[in-house]
Amino acid sequence: MKPTVAPFPAARLRRTRQSPAVRGLVRENTLTPDDLIWPVFVRDGEGIEEPVVSMPGVVRRSVDKIAEAAVEAQALGIPAICLFPYTDPSLKTEDCAEAWNPDNLCNRAIRAIKRAAPDIAVMTDVALDPYNINGHDGYVVDGEIVNDATVDALVKMTLAQADAGADIIGPSDMMDGRIGAMRTALETAGHHNVMILSYAAKYASAFYGPFRDAVGASGALKGDKKTYQMDPANSDEALRLIERDLNEGTDMVMVKPGMPYLDICRRVKDTFGVPTFAYQVSGEYAMIQAAAQNDWIDGEKTMLESLMCFKRAGCDGVLTYFAPRVAALLNG
Ligand code: PBG
Repeated sequence: MKPTVAPFPAARLRRTRQSPAVRGLVRENTLTPDDLIWPVFVRDGEGIEEPVVSMPGVVRRSVDKIAEAAVEAQALGIPAICLFPYTDPSLKTEDCAEAWNPDNLCNRAIRAIKRAAPDIAVMTDVALDPYNINGHDGYVVDGEIVNDATVDALVKMTLAQADAGADIIGPSDMMDGRIGAMRTALETAGHHNVMILSYAAKYASAFYGPFRDAVGASGALKGDKKTYQMDPANSDEALRLIERDLNEGTDMVMVKPGMPYLDICRRVKDTFGVPTFAYQVSGEYAMIQAAAQNDWIDGEKTMLESLMCFKRAGCDGVLTYFAPRVAALLNG
């Protein structure tokens, strides 16, 4: 449908922009706390909230503090919280066995949240990087990130998270065949209500830098992730990946990073019409915070604008480190 515009002055397009009331009336998209997934970092210990230097305003929390944060998020109307563990370097091994330890940091945090804030959905990250001595999302054999052995490990990790009470499994590893393998394993284990939100179109991005500091993976990572994460030059490939993951049984899909990839979000939503999420990643957050701290931009307005733009681009929701701040603001 082509929009029709009468000739000037019959059409003065500024008429519908003249006041807040009229602008509200014609607004095409809205941002509410319902749109938010809050990624949080978990660490060992008790009573700890430790700042992440490269992400001003973000902290690593011990499990007890994670539970408190979940209670706060639930009260703010944030529907989901997503866990990322900062694993003690002594627990990182070549076989990544800590990843499916039922009592690892992530699984303890899941249980603590379920006890403290039962109404909030708990999402997890499935990839080996927090547990891998190499910092990679998959097993490294002779310099190669091997696919199929990694998928077997990811399935064990998934089941341990589902057993701990995770509601949404978030595979961020970009291995081939993992969604089908996870879905089958979940069904077989009786976890038919556990959802999968696939990081289906995840790019090999420099915007993940601060995150790797936050989870302590920057030091460990040898090389880059270009043999499994996508080339930022590609767009059609993202649609193939989304279609593939949908066919394997993912419930929802994600595009990552967010802001530089809004064209991908729009294509995905238009093509498939499925629940579509974007991840406003650590580097995007850090850029906004750094500029705001220098008074180069208005941090609050930039935060709100950036999140509204995800909605305009077709996203149903956004993973954002701004979640509690923006929810509090939107709630007035
Ligand atoms: C790891 C993972 C990464 C992020 C989420 N899960 C980093 C990576 O792929 O290296 C990035 C999130 C962010 O930058 O905020 N599998």
